[in-house]
Amino acid sequence: MGLAPTIKSISVDEIEPIVILDRLCFGGLWSIDSYRRELTNDNSHFIGSSIDPHLEPETAGLIGFGCFWAILDEAHITLLGVHPRYQRQGLGQQILSALLTKARAIEMARATLEVRASNDGAIRLYEKYGFQTVGRRKKYYQDTGEDGVIMWRGGLQHPNFTLVENQPLI
Ligand SMILES: CC(C)(COP(=O)(O)OP(=O)(O)OC[C@H]1O[C@@H](n2cnc3c(N)ncnc32)[C@H](O)[C@@H]1OP(=O)(O)O)[C@@H](O)C(=O)NCCC(=O)NCCS
Repeated sequence: MGLAPTIKSISVDEIEPIVILDRLCFGGLWSIDSYRRELTNDNSHFIGSSIDPHLEPETAGLIGFGCFWAILDEAHITLLGVHPRYQRQGLGQQILSALLTKARAIEMARATLEVRASNDGAIRLYEKYGFQTVGRRKKYYQDTGEDGVIMWRGGLQHPNFTLVENQPLI
């Protein structure tokens, strides 16, 4: 994409850009207190994607983020967002790869997430990375009444683990 974003763990010091990015990506999903709890929780793993802050001063260069909770041997992906100006340039893919790689490194066996049934782009991205739909939570999202799609991906500890497209569950 020519921006050369850096992928790194992010800390509570970056809470303000995170909240701004949350508003841009999701219209205000989590409060600052929720983010503070996430960023200081030992079971929560937060990854950000940044460019030169001069290119995106509003978020101090932060243009994407993702998070998972490590619960037993399961990585529960709770967040994945890319700044609207930088979508469809491979960044979501890069952050999801980093989350799965991190989950594998800390010995998670599988990953799961929940996504709005109407979010075709995100569902396509997850499928590309081996997630499969295993169920639906009816009318899970209170604002629109739409279903939540539950997706899982196994095989994080498989010797042949790679982040290739359409990788089947192992
Ligand atoms: C979903 C989201 C994270 C994807 O990030 P992104 O950087 O735009 O995605 P990428 O460029 O890495 O796309 C990777 C693949 O995902 C799929 N994809 C992503 N967005 C898509 C879209 N709008 N329509 C169709 N396919 C899409 C495609 O298969 C794409 O590969 P391709 O570009 O080779 O066709 C981003 O659109 C976003 O932040 N959306 C708002 C927040 C959100 O919905 N988060 C997910 C909540 S569970």
